Amino acid sequence: MLKVGVLASGRGSNLQAILDECAAGRIPAKVVVVISDKEGAPALERGRKASAEALFISPKGLKREEYDAKLVAEMRKHGVGLVVLAGYMRLISPLFVKAFRNKIINIHPALLPSFPGTHGQRDALEWGAKISGCTVHFVDEECDHGPIILQKAVPVMDDDTVETLSARILEQEHKALPEAIRLFAEGKLRVEGRRAFRK
Ligand code: GAR
Repeated sequence: MLKVGVLASGRGSNLQAILDECAAGRIPAKVVVVISDKEGAPALERGRKASAEALFISPKGLKREEYDAKLVAEMRKHGVGLVVLAGYMRLISPLFVKAFRNKIINIHPALLPSFPGTHGQRDALEWGAKISGCTVHFVDEECDHGPIILQKAVPVMDDDTVETLSARILEQEHKALPEAIRLFAEGKLRVEGRRAFRK
């Protein structure tokens, strides 16, 4: 069974969606380790409850590549075959990408390539977009940039706030991320250059 390592900086609701789908037997994968760059991130407790190893690794005083080397070592130690960024708010270094080429996926709360960065929902709202959503993609050397696995769209309402739009998108994130992991775990994804296809 595919071993999954999750990186999460905060609340961990996407992690929870993955854990629930794995526990229900709908994804042939197991989350073996959850790592956070934030001490006390609720995601760690969620991982622990699902009997994954949950680790806070402090980035303090470390260069980006030094920090990522630690993450790679932990992932390898646990035999991880897929790394999932589930609300992970740090940039991944080329060292990490190289170690897990086409084996790292990220969820982003906007329809890439629109609104990359840390405020996808706010940026779409402020731009006046009428449709937004979420994107699951493979991670490459550039931020929010790699081959897109799947996207789910939601309408932006006239009376939306960042909070209401984020909640509507989050509901779709909780479907999109487990679906992408299932496709990966079942060996149903193929990458050709910039494009990812379902086999
Ligand atoms: C999610 O909306 C995710 O898409 C976003 O952070 C939130 C984490 O929520 N990620 C990014 O913005 C990455 N650039 P969660 O901790 O409840 O899963």
